[in-house]
Amino acid sequence: MIKLIQLTKRYSNDTVLAGISMEICKGDIIGLIGPSGSGKSTVLRCIAGIEEYDTGEIIVDKNCRIGMVFQNFNLFNNMSVIENLCYPQQKVLKRTKNNAEGIAIQMLKKVNMMGFFDRFPSSLSGGQKQRVAIARTLCMDPSIILFDEPTSALDPENVSEVLDVIKSIATDEIGIIIVTHELRFIRSIANRMIFIDHGKIEVDMEKDDFFKLTVNKRINSFLESLLSH
Ligand SMILES: Nc1ncnc2c1ncn2[C@@H]1O[C@H](COP(=O)(O)OP(=O)(O)OP(=O)(O)O)[C@@H](O)[C@H]1O
Ligand SMILES: [Mg+2]
Repeated sequence: MIKLIQLTKRYSNDTVLAGISMEICKGDIIGLIGPSGSGKSTVLRCIAGIEEYDTGEIIVDKNCRIGMVFQNFNLFNNMSVIENLCYPQQKVLKRTKNNAEGIAIQMLKKVNMMGFFDRFPSSLSGGQKQRVAIARTLCMDPSIILFDEPTSALDPENVSEVLDVIKSIATDEIGIIIVTHELRFIRSIANRMIFIDHGKIEVDMEKDDFFKLTVNKRINSFLESLLSH
């Protein structure tokens, strides 16, 4: 569905992406991991079209719609939950109010948030906000969903409800890239793992092979640091 070819990006003298090439296919669930500052968010933002890159190419299948879920939810705080879900559908997809509401209700049910449809974001827990944000993304009928540390801003007791929702929306029809420190989770749902360091893909392989990779010292010490924190 999407192909990145030798993507590069610099901020003045810093090379942030040093030639990133990867492919995302239907049904892929890609775990994207790497140290802080390695370029994970930048890659996702370039794919989502909200960040410019310098050279290289991103080829997107013509019917492919890309959705993104952020660490800090990015909900519209002046809108109720249902309005958060309807507004982009009406604005971007030109759906009627009725149609948008019907889809919003369906998606709120999917993330177990229907009971909160008239609440405002400020009255929700972090886990609830993130589930609303995921529902809002789902309303846009995405073929690819990019998750950038979706549980990093949550209290520990709210993490699993969000991970369960992410698990439940994975289908053969959509592609998912997820940046996360939740190793056990990513190990349970990903089919592919990409390890990025200094703006370069160091490893891109099948999940099972990746976790068997005991020869790569750099990855091992990184995985250990995740497990110990
Ligand atoms: N607006 C900016 N101006 C200058 N440098 C930037 C800017 N945004 C990001 N960077 C730099 O780009 C590099 C990659 O950042 P990015 O946010 O993609 O890393 P990351 O892998 O997502 O890190 P983290 O795990 O901490 O979220 C970092 O060195 C960062 O300092
Ligand atoms: Mg980041």
